[in-house]
Amino acid sequence: MSDQLPHKAQWSSRLAFILAASGSAIGLGNIWKFPYLLGEHGGGAFVLVYLIFVLFVGLPIMMAETVIGRLGKQNPVNSMRSAAKKANASQNWQLVGWLGLAAGFLILSYYSVIAGWSMAYLFKMAGGFLANTNALTSQQTFEELRKSADVQIVWHTAFMISTMLIVSRELSTGIERVTGLMMPALFIMLATLDIYAFSSDGFSQGMQFLFEPDFSKLTGESLLIALGQAFFSLGLGMGAIMAYGAYLPDRISITRSTIAVAGADTLVALMAGIAIFPIVFANHLEPTMGPGLIFETLPIAFSKMPGGTLFGSIFFLLVFFAAITSAVALIEPTIAWLTERMDVSRAKASVWAGSACWLMGIGTVFSFSSEEPTRWSGRNFYELIDFVTSDLMLPIGGILIATFVGWILKNELIEEELELGNRTIIWHGLIRYVAPLSVAAILLSALSLI
Ligand code: PHE
Repeated sequence: MSDQLPHKAQWSSRLAFILAASGSAIGLGNIWKFPYLLGEHGGGAFVLVYLIFVLFVGLPIMMAETVIGRLGKQNPVNSMRSAAKKANASQNWQLVGWLGLAAGFLILSYYSVIAGWSMAYLFKMAGGFLANTNALTSQQTFEELRKSADVQIVWHTAFMISTMLIVSRELSTGIERVTGLMMPALFIMLATLDIYAFSSDGFSQGMQFLFEPDFSKLTGESLLIALGQAFFSLGLGMGAIMAYGAYLPDRISITRSTIAVAGADTLVALMAGIAIFPIVFANHLEPTMGPGLIFETLPIAFSKMPGGTLFGSIFFLLVFFAAITSAVALIEPTIAWLTERMDVSRAKASVWAGSACWLMGIGTVFSFSSEEPTRWSGRNFYELIDFVTSDLMLPIGGILIATFVGWILKNELIEEELELGNRTIIWHGLIRYVAPLSVAAILLSALSLI
């Protein structure tokens, strides 16, 4: 088996990489998942440990993944293999690439269903059907969607086809163009929602919930979920950033770019939380309501705002864009592998991967639509895939990546890539000890509780 030639495609500038990597990082994870998880797991304490994980575990691993990608310049499986070869290490390290490929594929199967919900809401909003929403009607609207498998499948299909249309095109025309426009627009919309939240009745209660940690609410399981969410939201542990790092020209600083990406991702998640919880409290809704949270809360805010129908439509359109730029990153490792190793065209690879992923997504649709979904140790299909990917596969991928870069890859190689100067010692401490050991400890202690 010979190594493939490194690919020639490259990002056109540092900003192009930052935008594309933020496009991968910022998605439903920030706007949909972070708020509902923090609502379920006790608010402020969850937010605080999440922030700690992003800074001390996520950021170093993001740097590590980007380094491997840029050194290998191929799909994650091959990049890991060629990095292992450079370090005279076992070829088994390419398993990290495989693990990531599988995780991205599995995540996209449910991601597409939820992104489909936001498309459904875009049309409801634009059609004026949500113009007079209150807490009760908003719950009814969401329940109607949740219970209808047909409607969810239609939108899931539409989302998967849209994703594959972008994926099948070449790098610069596809990913770069979409993210360049969408990221700044999303930011402005969230800022508008935050201003609205600031003026609403529930603001102080919302802020208290978000930023006053009550550590008695933190359990071993919620620690693992906060950790898994840090991986999920930054898009780590599965080779997505590795695949993007492979297109990164040598002259661009990895350290500065990854700090910008992690910072933007965290800011957007917090802005989403700030927008949502004041509405939850002002309308006496339950912060613990789960995956329906943003869909049951935000329409209430939009219906009370002047120009709400327009704002709401733009907002859900942007959520769709945020989701699609992440979806593209989730499937890119699989596509890169299919095109480079199996020698099929991007178009064909997209059809194969998209169809298989679509089929799996049907399982998620039924786990929401059915009143008595099949359960595996208490988890329905969606919860099971989410648990296995975010809370097991991504953190395990993270431990392996941190160990590989911290202990196996030659130091000079990394230092040359990261240009950390006298801060190298901090980097070493984080990537060798803090990141792998804390992730392993949390995984083991949480799993022994389950
Ligand atoms: N980070 C994305 C989000 O928050 C999801 C994602 C996970 C993308 C893993 C790529 C890799 O929505």
